[in-house]
Amino acid sequence: MVYIANFNFNIMGPTITTLRNTFEIASYIAHKLDKKLDAKKSTINIAISGGNTPKEIFKHWSSHFKNEINWRNISFYWVDERCVPSSSSESNYGEAKRLFFDKVLTTQDNVFPIVGDNKPHEEVFILNSLVQSKLPQKNNLPVFDLILLGMGTDGHTASIFPGQLELFNLDEAYTTSVNPHTGQKRITLTGKTINNANEVCFIITGSDKKLIIDEIINKKGNWQSYPASFIINDNLEWIIEEIQ
Ligand code: 6PG
Repeated sequence: MVYIANFNFNIMGPTITTLRNTFEIASYIAHKLDKKLDAKKSTINIAISGGNTPKEIFKHWSSHFKNEINWRNISFYWVDERCVPSSSSESNYGEAKRLFFDKVLTTQDNVFPIVGDNKPHEEVFILNSLVQSKLPQKNNLPVFDLILLGMGTDGHTASIFPGQLELFNLDEAYTTSVNPHTGQKRITLTGKTINNANEVCFIITGSDKKLIIDEIINKKGNWQSYPASFIINDNLEWIIEEIQ
């Protein structure tokens, strides 16, 4: 049993926001980013997950929010990446580039991908140096203004899968991981770094996660086996697409 250090529940509990579809979710997050840009009056640092949900968000942002948000003042990092070339359809960065950055940004010097075809340990070293130099620090870890997470049907989040809870105890920003279902090598933010953020949002689509969300939020059933259960943050919000 892995002990999760400094694990304290937020007595207030997470905010639950249910929206009708991915367009409403994309609009809701764009508005959240806009408010952060207004408040901070400088660059905000966000980290985005991979998988299918973010692709839908990026499509809506490209189509309807291209000129609504000052995207240039947002530094984009990744929560995790598959260790594949960016040309692969598996690449979280590659898909984001094709669906959003190439359509919205004239230059991409505010985009900091995880380079999936670098050697994982070398890329982790590069990334940890990067976020240590470019982001404010707290608890000796970088502080992201906002982290957007997904969750798999097994309760994984980022690339922290069931049985890998030790990735919540590491004192580094990024680390290597493996998808146990496929053996695919991954690079991921650690649990401590995600919990170190100013705000964390789960973005959940699909009808097959309703029960697991209930287990996690209400700490019942198998909640302790799901890595998503150990995302603890004073500003944690579950943004959930209404079940069709
Ligand atoms: C990844 C993601 C992963 C994702 C969940 C949910 O690289 O696969 O970071 O953690 O967020 O698997 O994915 P969906 O949005 O496709 O449900």
